Amino acid sequence: MYHHIKQLMYTVRIGTPDPRFGNMLLEQFGGANGELAAAMQYSIQGLNCDDPARKDLLMDIGTEELSHLEIVGALARMHLKPMKTNRQAAETDPLVAIAGGGGVTLCNSMGNAWTADYLKVTGELDVDLRSNIAAEARAKIVYERLINFCDDPGTKDALQFLMTREITHLKAFMAALESMGKDPLVIGEIPPTPGIVEQFYNDSTGQGDDGDIDARGPWNEANGVRFIASVAQPIAAATEVEVTREIHNAVRRRLTSPAKSSRSKPAR
Ligand SMILES: [Fe+2]
Repeated sequence: MYHHIKQLMYTVRIGTPDPRFGNMLLEQFGGANGELAAAMQYSIQGLNCDDPARKDLLMDIGTEELSHLEIVGALARMHLKPMKTNRQAAETDPLVAIAGGGGVTLCNSMGNAWTADYLKVTGELDVDLRSNIAAEARAKIVYERLINFCDDPGTKDALQFLMTREITHLKAFMAALESMGKDPLVIGEIPPTPGIVEQFYNDSTGQGDDGDIDARGPWNEANGVRFIASVAQPIAAATEVEVTREIHNAVRRRLTSPAKSSRSKPAR
């Protein structure tokens, strides 16, 4: 059940409206990393979630994102408003001015319609939480850029609040993922093929004209990773029969396990 309260989650006050900036704000209204995408992603993940504790987390944050959508909408509308009557302002974005009457629509800053394709919903809780951590990081950096391009103190203040909440959510999703106690490299049930999984292929080689280097680091030479210098046919340490047997075992384990290990006890 959703209930609307006629009050913004954070008070929004702006100085002189800036239609160009209002247009940029639409990125966080109907854009790929915007508030509607966040609200829908977490809420739909929550609907699909069998883990009661983490379902509660997803619904809490998904609902807060709707309140953020309302703040961004209010903010964008204030900045876009001159487009209703002012020809020069309308020229900033004819789509918003002529088709939308100087108000907000579910489009990004380039006028592209919002799409459910923005959403990452896999039905695998740990995978979804990773997507959410990345989504919050993207939203944070978009808000930071908006703040950097903004001169109006009131607008900056509201954007600072929204940016801060992204970090709060980032922390919550990270803690939820960690509390599942899953090995971060175990995704799903079927194990990767031994031998191949440890190989790092140096597929971008040589020295570039702009000083591009062939780098080495912990990603390609530590933690059991084997650096393969030349492009090679991947050769598995396990035979095809062994790999097939592992896959069958994993499927059997999944079918016979009473409940997912990630399931946690409900809060008392
Ligand atoms: Fe948000």
